[in-house]
Amino acid sequence: MKIAVPAEADKLETRVAATPETVKKFKGLGAEVSVQAGAGAASRIPDADYAAAGATVADARETVRDADIILKVRRPDASEMQAYKPGAIVVAIMDPYGNDSALKALADAKLAAFAMELMPRITRAQSMDVLSSQANLAGYQAVIDAADNYDRALPMMMTAAGTVPAARVFVMGAGVAGLQAIATARRLGAVVTATDVRPAAKEQVESLGAKFVAVEDEEFKQAETAAGYAKPMSAEYQAKQAALVAEHIKKQDIVITTALIPGRPAPKLVSAVMVASMKPGSVLVDLAVERGGNVEGAKAGEIAKAGDVKIIGFLNVPGRIAASASALYARNLYNFVETFFDKTSKAFAINWDDELVKATVLTRDGAVVHPSFAGKGAS
Ligand code: NAI
Repeated sequence: MKIAVPAEADKLETRVAATPETVKKFKGLGAEVSVQAGAGAASRIPDADYAAAGATVADARETVRDADIILKVRRPDASEMQAYKPGAIVVAIMDPYGNDSALKALADAKLAAFAMELMPRITRAQSMDVLSSQANLAGYQAVIDAADNYDRALPMMMTAAGTVPAARVFVMGAGVAGLQAIATARRLGAVVTATDVRPAAKEQVESLGAKFVAVEDEEFKQAETAAGYAKPMSAEYQAKQAALVAEHIKKQDIVITTALIPGRPAPKLVSAVMVASMKPGSVLVDLAVERGGNVEGAKAGEIAKAGDVKIIGFLNVPGRIAASASALYARNLYNFVETFFDKTSKAFAINWDDELVKATVLTRDGAVVHPSFAGKGAS
């Protein structure tokens, strides 16, 4: 059983899908591991560390040649796929929504493609939850990026030269990323408020020492799906919430937005008028920019300027903290791929009926098989 860890083809991607720690564990399962030279460089992992963990370090083609399992951060593109053996398993963040032709290409290449972001959020799969591990780091990094672009101190400082007031930070969307942003901003001494449409978020926000700001009407009380995600809100609710937010945002120094609804474009929460109402030097960080953005005027991959206000729209925010992001992502992958092996015989024995496998497998035997995507990408 050969497991391959190619370098990421996307130049924006600084993460890597395995670390020396997980290589060692895969070896312990009886697998042979091949890592592309330089794959860990942007995550500060030298080739020598992979070799010391028991991996073969090879060039791009040799790494994936005859590999049975290919571990990646991002979905492979057409040219990467060409080098993969038909029937190989590919595990990555596949970004399947709205990418039907890419799913068809995976099926046509006869790959068994697994999308880690479709992992069910159940207790057994918590250690495999890449959305959580990466969003947590993104929430942290968003505050660091905001602080870096803010011309004032975040904590209140009482000095002999007088007092510096604490910065006011408003976090919109209090899921995994938002909660970590709240915790990080609090650690830096900011006065933090937060909003979300899910009622469950209120207690979580308050338990972190932040104030919850939201229109708490009947619709709000029903806004969480059984899976724990937000529902799209009605136009009426959005208007009421926008009025509340508009008043609140005027007084904020830093706004961090993380609001997402699975499989849909990000809700627009901060209008250009709200941005214009902020004080000079204020900073917004839009973590939803890759999905269309929460902030009007945010530009993917850039720091946009709206008057004297900066809107940070960095892409791949977990990749800005690549060494930590790779360490957690690689463990998520290991914890999942380990379930493909029989622990006692150390044989590869994937159970295609396992609920985690069924929830994440997108393509198999030349077809798009996932119920949410089948029929869209299949020929
Ligand atoms: P997400 O990334 O899909 O969305 C981020 C946040 O944006 C969510 O809290 C969502 O409610 C909020 N949002 C959506 N529309 C909004 C709007 N119009 N205004 C304000 N906020 C809006 O969600 P994420 O971070 O992946 O987490 C979703 C839930 O799943 C959370 O309750 C989280 O605690 C839970 N979860 C459960 C896990 C488990 O294993 N049981 C693991 C991880 C998360």
